[in-house]
Amino acid sequence: MKRIGILTSGGDSQGMNAAVRAIARSAMHAGLEAYGINLGYKGLVEGNVFKMDSLADLDGIINRGGTILRSARFPEFAEEETQLKAIEMLKKLGIDALVVIGGDGSYHGAMKLTKHGFNSIGVPGTIDNDIPGTDFTIGFDTAVNVATDALDRINDTARSHQRIFVVEVMGRGAGDIALWSGIAADADAIVIPEREYDIKAIANKLTENRKNGKDNGLIVVAEGVMSAEEFKAELDKYGDFDSRAVTLAHVQRGGVPTAKDRVIASQLGDYAVQLLLEGKGGMAVGIRDGKPEAHDIIDTLENHKHKTDVSLADLNDRLRF
Ligand code: F6P
Repeated sequence: MKRIGILTSGGDSQGMNAAVRAIARSAMHAGLEAYGINLGYKGLVEGNVFKMDSLADLDGIINRGGTILRSARFPEFAEEETQLKAIEMLKKLGIDALVVIGGDGSYHGAMKLTKHGFNSIGVPGTIDNDIPGTDFTIGFDTAVNVATDALDRINDTARSHQRIFVVEVMGRGAGDIALWSGIAADADAIVIPEREYDIKAIANKLTENRKNGKDNGLIVVAEGVMSAEEFKAELDKYGDFDSRAVTLAHVQRGGVPTAKDRVIASQLGDYAVQLLLEGKGGMAVGIRDGKPEAHDIIDTLENHKHKTDVSLADLNDRLRF
């Protein structure tokens, strides 16, 4: 093996640059060449590739949000013809193995390349924390901290104005960002797709809180449930609230990655290269109890699902209700 290709794909996440750096530096440390692929799978098919330089390209990026390789959503990669074009391109460029940093869709791309016989490794990079085979994805910790900071600010103004705020956080189908930021910010209710909820009961509780001296409220709703506007409209049917709906949206995907995201990205990026050096491809890497782990990427995607820790919602109920 001589050349490793690196790409970032799907929604970006804080810490992707730290992962790119780790993969490239680790590869160079082992005497390999690292090739950056711009614009995800789209750039791969088009041959939008450059040889990475340890200093010019990788210095000073560990603390930068976004991805220096840039990203793209590329649904065409679901087609076999496009996958085979990508493999043709990789062969033409002399790239022997590919490390893909991304979420669910990106992992499926890496799995398809693996099924066609091309050594690929998936590194979990998404704020959603919805990838099986890892406790945490790269970017999740930063997104939770960004959301928590925003919720703290919203709580300030909610208290001043005796208002109810319904705040929608990202996560696609997963409630992890809602749970972690909601607990951290003292939310009155956290509503996630993985657990049943009762809007009327939440409204009644807010009304009861008001009678008992707490005249403001914070509801964190995961985007997989419904929009903040929709939730607010439902809530208003059951109480006389001065309510507001806020959608945090893409602010959660940007900014300086936390130290935790940088360290996980460094561990997983390096581990992906070590696996390839041992001749192991077709893997998905992840962090379990602080240590890197690898699983067969096909088995991971076809037979396992991310499990949101719903006990955190019960915890919040005990602390709030
Ligand atoms: O997967 C990351 C994510 O930010 C999700 O939380 C969200 O549903 C989606 O991407 C938004 O996608 P886009 O940036 O394409 O609007």
